[in-house]
Amino acid sequence: MDTALFEERKRDHIRHALDPSNQASGLSRLDSVRLHHDALPELDFDEVTLAGTCLGSPVKAPLFVAGMTAGHRDASHLNRSLARACAARGWAMGVGSQRRELQGELIDDWKELRKEVPSLVLFANLGLAQVRTASNEQIGRVIDSIGAQALCIHLNVLQECMQPEGTPQFRGGLARIVELSRSLHVPVVLKETGCGFSRRTLERISDFPIGAIDVSGLGGTHWGRIEGARAATTITGESERKVDALRARAARVFADWGVSTVDSVLSASQILPERVEIWATGGVRSGLDAAKLIALGAHSVGFAKPALEAALMGEKSLHEWMESQEFELKTALFCSGHSSPQQLRERGVAQGSDVWTIE
Ligand SMILES: Cc1cc2nc3c(=O)[nH]c(=O)nc-3n(C[C@H](O)[C@H](O)[C@H](O)COP(=O)(O)O)c2cc1C
Repeated sequence: MDTALFEERKRDHIRHALDPSNQASGLSRLDSVRLHHDALPELDFDEVTLAGTCLGSPVKAPLFVAGMTAGHRDASHLNRSLARACAARGWAMGVGSQRRELQGELIDDWKELRKEVPSLVLFANLGLAQVRTASNEQIGRVIDSIGAQALCIHLNVLQECMQPEGTPQFRGGLARIVELSRSLHVPVVLKETGCGFSRRTLERISDFPIGAIDVSGLGGTHWGRIEGARAATTITGESERKVDALRARAARVFADWGVSTVDSVLSASQILPERVEIWATGGVRSGLDAAKLIALGAHSVGFAKPALEAALMGEKSLHEWMESQEFELKTALFCSGHSSPQQLRERGVAQGSDVWTIE
């Protein structure tokens, strides 16, 4: 692997993810969902609790920071801040792609970090492109290096097409996911990266022995746009790269490609069996957004870009931002007459339009 190119790409990703033009804002359909107000909740605000479990591990909130920043050296301080804050507040956390760790790199950094946050519920992360060719032993070592509770396998077909140095090879992926899910000692989570899951894809994975899916739907960070922005610029540093006009043009055509986060969660809650947890990321920008997705069927809700922004402003800002998401989620539960996310989810799934409406 070209380490300079890899580090450069990871830095580019963070820079472009923070650019508002690479956000598919307004396409999550979260703005069209409304939770019904309950003027007589027969509850005190203090009775509302966010605590529950995530794949069997206790958490203090059904919220997580989605995988972003593994794999390059500059990111280790960001990972530390995110990990410390998630451990303190009882959120779960995913790390970004651990592709380099498959070759044994950066493993010691992770071991150090894990020592600082032994109680953190943490998810490892590899792309399907890597999982297809890596051995079970290599993957097991990546998971164990961070003491992960689950392995997220990310699916990123559009990104691989638009990435100048992409690897759009997915043949054999379905069988490999099933085989790996059966042999690993932790559950597998299938995760998109901002383009969501259609009904057809969900039907194909509905009997897979996986622990959860993270729908990562359209409406937030969009990897077609980000790779398009990379393709449109030249890199003159160590890993020189020319403008890729073909991909830059195509990325504009595919700028709104994907299934919205709302549609992905609704389909997942209709199609997947109850044993598979539904996690929702993709354009979640408030605790109220999280409550809406829980009402539609999500067990846990995650944030990537907003958590990155908050972490870049320092640990105090990160804590304040996390506190806001919790307070907004609690307020949505209280004002809709629910004492816990579990109760909102159960009522929302069983009674649908008694609890929410989609305009
Ligand atoms: C800077 C950045 C890096 C990311 N890297 C990864 C990654 O390595 N692996 C992965 O599965 N998802 C990655 N993601 C996708 C997120 O986990 C998430 O699914 C997606 O960004 C949608 O959430 P958002 O709209 O809140 O950003 C990354 C997101 C960001 C913002």
